[in-house]
Amino acid sequence: MTNRRSFIKKVSTLGAGIWAWPLIDNSFAKESQSVLSSIANVPPTELASDEDFWSWVRHNYTSSTNIINLNNGGVSPHPKVVQDAVQRFTELSNEAPSYYMWRIFEKGRESIRTKLADLGGVNAEEIAINRNTTEALDTIIFGFDMKKGDEFVTSNFIYPNMNQAWMQRELREGLVRKVAVLPMPSTDVKAIVKAYTDQFTSKTKVVLIEHVVNWTGQVLPVGEIAVEAKKRDIMVMVDGAHSFAHINFKISDLNCDYFGTSLHKWLCAPFGTGMLWMRKELISKHWALLPGPKPESDDVRKFEMLGTRDVPAELAVGQAIEFHLSIGAERKYERLHYLKQYWVTKVKDLDGFKLWCPEEKGFSGALTTFGLEGKTAKDIHDHLWKTSRIHTTTIKHEDIDGVRVTPNVYTSLKDLDLLVESIKSIG
Ligand SMILES: Cc1ncc(COP(=O)(O)O)c(C=O)c1O
Repeated sequence: MTNRRSFIKKVSTLGAGIWAWPLIDNSFAKESQSVLSSIANVPPTELASDEDFWSWVRHNYTSSTNIINLNNGGVSPHPKVVQDAVQRFTELSNEAPSYYMWRIFEKGRESIRTKLADLGGVNAEEIAINRNTTEALDTIIFGFDMKKGDEFVTSNFIYPNMNQAWMQRELREGLVRKVAVLPMPSTDVKAIVKAYTDQFTSKTKVVLIEHVVNWTGQVLPVGEIAVEAKKRDIMVMVDGAHSFAHINFKISDLNCDYFGTSLHKWLCAPFGTGMLWMRKELISKHWALLPGPKPESDDVRKFEMLGTRDVPAELAVGQAIEFHLSIGAERKYERLHYLKQYWVTKVKDLDGFKLWCPEEKGFSGALTTFGLEGKTAKDIHDHLWKTSRIHTTTIKHEDIDGVRVTPNVYTSLKDLDLLVESIKSIG
């Protein structure tokens, strides 16, 4: 364990430009190096079912032994190294808050920005660090100049917070909403794209696309929809709450203009950490929700005027990125898709079983919603909890009345076997 005095000594050298978080837990770095070198040549599709490797990953989390958490879609736990980092930064901040948080730790934000940009395949000067997808997308939605009669396109699977943000603009400014009604589930890219293009008119200024639909787990072909939007000079906003560090992609692949995500979901970063990305050339034209001294500046930091914030949580994002990279984006996606398929294939032939998410790679990851004919979401949810203390969430949306199941990298096959047994015993 890192000695506290030596830790503080290391941190106090930060004024010289050395950053703190890599100093926090060398033991994890050493151990992961040896584990990772042992699987270096294993293809990700093969590694997806290597239980030795994934049990090592599992042991880096502090998951409950009393309940089986299959609602990682809501919010994910952070690995032990990330928890330790939050604790260390918090302890030190409490010794002299304004000194450590504002003079020392503040410098670390730039290194986090660069690492997030690397993960997204974009420029660090286009990344703002904030608290969550809601803050990122509200910044995007409210900062975009539009006038009465201008149209925007959303889908019928929009997340409630974004729906509310647009509702407010409709009520206040007379903007007009058009809704793309999505086939769900679907692997028909043309049909999905058409659902959007059918709503595009000469008055459409912007389209908001959910990269991964939270209600079902369906991955939408953002890049293809964006190509059509761009042909018509329509701006593209992406709700990436469930895609970043889950699906293997780069923001730069999406052909979009704005992207928002929550780092406490799939990156397993501290609670209340998020990220906003927008193209560099749009920054000066975009109004901030919480303005800085130069509202028309092209410095992305103008979207970070939150005031006093949870600096320890933000800084520990660095440790979450390191943990994520130690697994690797491709390996992680393959495992997450494998876990979903593991339980789905064991129950999909049950009478009355219904799945609202495609099974195919590229169209799905870990997240999926299922139902059983004659049973309400509450019936299923309560049964899973009572029989096996499996924690899930109910989904009610248009004709969907089901339960969303979301494993994560630390989920064991034993837990999923219990899920399968519990579903089979619903009767
Ligand atoms: C698609 C989608 N967008 C936005 C959000 C909001 O995320 P947060 O609560 O982290 O702001 C969620 C949360 O689950 C979501 O699923």
